[in-house]
Amino acid sequence: MAQAPQAKYRKDYQSPSHTITDIELIFELHDTATLVTAVSQVQQLKESTTLALDGDGLTLKSLRIDQQQWTDYELVEGGLKIHNLPNMFTLEIVTELNPEANTALEGLYKSGGAYCTQCEAEGFRRITYYLDRPDVLAKYTTTVIADKVQYPFLLSNGNRVEQGELDNGRHWVKWFDPHPKPAYLFALVAGDFDVLTDQYTTKSGRNVTLEIFVDKGNLDRANHAMVSLINSMKWDEERFGFEYDLDIYMIVAVDFFNMGAMENKGLNVFNSKFVLANEKTATDTDYLGIEAVIGHEYFHNWTGNRVTCRDWFQLSLKEGLTVFRDQEFSSDLGSRAVNRINNVRIIRGPQFAEDASPMSHPIRPDKVIEMNNFYTLTVYEKGSEVIRMYHTLLGEEGFQKGMQLYVERHDGTAATCEDFVKAMEDANGVDLQQFRLWYNQSGTPTVKVASEYNEQAQTYTLIVEQSTESTHDQKEKQALHIPFDVELYSAAGDVIELQCNGEKVANVLNVTQAKQSFVFEGVTEQPIPSLLREFSAPVKLEYDYSDKELTFLMVYAQNEFARWDAGQMLLAKYIRTNVEAVQAGKVASLPAEVVDAFRGVVLSEVLEPAFIAEMLSLPSHNEVSGWYKTVDVDAIAQVLKAIKIQLSAELQDEFGAIYHSLNQAEYTIDHDAIGKRALRNTALSFLAYTEQGNELVKSQYAQANNMTDTIAAMAAANQAQLACRETLMADYSDKWKHDGLVMDKWFALQGSNPAGNVLEVIKQTMHHEAFSLKNPNRTRSLVGSFLNMNPVHFHAIDGSGYQFAGEILRELNSVNPQVASRLVDPLLKLGKYDQQRQSLIRAELEQLKAMDNLAKDLFEKVSKALES
Ligand code: TRP
Ligand code: ZN
Repeated sequence: MAQAPQAKYRKDYQSPSHTITDIELIFELHDTATLVTAVSQVQQLKESTTLALDGDGLTLKSLRIDQQQWTDYELVEGGLKIHNLPNMFTLEIVTELNPEANTALEGLYKSGGAYCTQCEAEGFRRITYYLDRPDVLAKYTTTVIADKVQYPFLLSNGNRVEQGELDNGRHWVKWFDPHPKPAYLFALVAGDFDVLTDQYTTKSGRNVTLEIFVDKGNLDRANHAMVSLINSMKWDEERFGFEYDLDIYMIVAVDFFNMGAMENKGLNVFNSKFVLANEKTATDTDYLGIEAVIGHEYFHNWTGNRVTCRDWFQLSLKEGLTVFRDQEFSSDLGSRAVNRINNVRIIRGPQFAEDASPMSHPIRPDKVIEMNNFYTLTVYEKGSEVIRMYHTLLGEEGFQKGMQLYVERHDGTAATCEDFVKAMEDANGVDLQQFRLWYNQSGTPTVKVASEYNEQAQTYTLIVEQSTESTHDQKEKQALHIPFDVELYSAAGDVIELQCNGEKVANVLNVTQAKQSFVFEGVTEQPIPSLLREFSAPVKLEYDYSDKELTFLMVYAQNEFARWDAGQMLLAKYIRTNVEAVQAGKVASLPAEVVDAFRGVVLSEVLEPAFIAEMLSLPSHNEVSGWYKTVDVDAIAQVLKAIKIQLSAELQDEFGAIYHSLNQAEYTIDHDAIGKRALRNTALSFLAYTEQGNELVKSQYAQANNMTDTIAAMAAANQAQLACRETLMADYSDKWKHDGLVMDKWFALQGSNPAGNVLEVIKQTMHHEAFSLKNPNRTRSLVGSFLNMNPVHFHAIDGSGYQFAGEILRELNSVNPQVASRLVDPLLKLGKYDQQRQSLIRAELEQLKAMDNLAKDLFEKVSKALES
């Protein structure tokens, strides 16, 4: 490392010295030498005749001010300083880029045969020198020039205003976006595509053309994306009153993409994974993922684009809010309980793990070296939980009042998290002073509850204590405002009305102190409490439930989430005791009553299949690891497997009956059909461990008429290490080897293969014709699933898993730092493992740290981990 990269602090925010009101861009596209002419109208805002522009890896060809060549400038680290400027001027900059050499996939790059851009967070500075910060909003006019045969489609933000032909076989298209926007929302795409077109009429009557661009030959995989887009537009009008504001909405699917998708104004660019689907190539999970991501990017049009962020520390302002919106969208269209369960799994698993790691940060970070490192589970998912808490506290009506005021006040501007809280407060006449701490404080609070029943007084008291352990980034913690949703049940299963001080009270208690008691009156029998219903705050709950209370709640809790959660708590109890048993050299097992409780779930005739499938899913190895200070990787794996095998043996008949009764002849993708497949395939995942496993899995694979069932069979064969595994894998690879996206599912199975020789197989698989380390989806599928989903072998005590991770990371550091930086996460958690593993991981981190070209992305994470 030549010079250690510098951190930026939230407290140092300064408004810009200048702004840019309009920018005209001309792109002359060429694979290795693209010319970009940027003509900006610049206005001085503060007393300063020097303009400091951001720039990264650019070749400056010319610089003119008011049409005169300008020499009074200096190229500096990270940009360009121009001196002795008037207070208003036209700035013309020409830069040269090499899109073909851009493997970082940030700025202008080539994905397959097409040109595309990715500018969030700070990618526009790789295109031209600019005020690349979200509080500078300009109107963009963009002209794209390229070869007409190779690049018939030339796209950018806004509306197409002009086009023409040039005599050298090239053509051009000019776009104008009337909505002022920050540079991170700029986009350009040039290529040859198939286009799926549709129409949408907004509630006030605007006709919008909808276009989805996919690689040639993929038109039959674009329908679900279009349906999801139309559903999103409608839902945002109905639930939030937000309408679309341009005449055209375009989505382009690309194969090389660092993240899920990007909300560029009027021209979303998507990872093809979140667009392309038909029943032969995509699973139900893929379909639901497409719906969620299409919704997410569309919803950004109001929460992100119309109202954007003042600075990147405010990222959760748009991301937490937009995740909340996409979660609500999925819940309104599908099963609310199943959606909630899956979102809560993410918080309790990987988000809690992030809180406990050296990268812990509040949803509004205070200190950043590389912004790309802060597109995190904390900012997105915990950020969404914080928004959900407003909703829980204020109700749908109050929340919507706050939203309307927020948009009314800040439309067309760059806002802050504080602006959002203020809008919620003002619209509802409430004081959210203490609630604001959720933006400042990192880490996971623990809410410890005790209860007392006083038969004589007929009172029931909940004693609630909250505390947050110090985190790597922050020592001192304060008491938060925690909405704590509770319900009480009688032994007969009836709801006991909550009454305090002679008045009926709502289910959501306001926990605001370190320790606090809530006394409920008129409680005529010892109640069973249902606590933290709907996971009303992102906290760890501690309450000493008996098995009987948990099995009671699994059946009688009114709300499905609470039933599921009771089942999870019951499993958690026995996973913990079994881990201890295994560590003491005993065998793991579940008592008969626990097995029976799950038998009851399997046999239920009232519960929805999709929900039963969730009830039957054990917590992941990662989630269980989060419960411990020091993780015993092998003991946890052994216990989870033993429980799975015991349940499959004891509930074999029930699973068999379900499996056969839920066979669907026709494939449809409605929620009911998805739920049935989910339950049937869950049953298969258990049956795989029984005698009939191999035959059942083989025949499901052979008969499957859709990818969901195909992959379920392969995953079962993989997990249970069935004899048919190799045959199925070979057959699939033969069939799909020319389609990287479809092969990703196969790569993920290779990465998570529990077999002892997995690392050897992975190394061979890297030579598979469909694999490339340059493609983020491929790398995440194969390498990412080994690092994240194969704990036993990744953490092998000989260090082979860590060494492999180290090798890949050193290579990816120069190919694609963003992907490298996401992949390194499991290594940052070294503190959770025993001394021997810790020193092996440390050695790999040290080797990374010593690289002389270490990217900022890895530098930030690796140095934090080594300091911890
Ligand atoms: N704003 C995008 C979203 O959440 C995500 C995003 C941020 C992104 N940085 C990116 C996408 C870099 C691709 C590449 O919807
Ligand atoms: Zn987003």
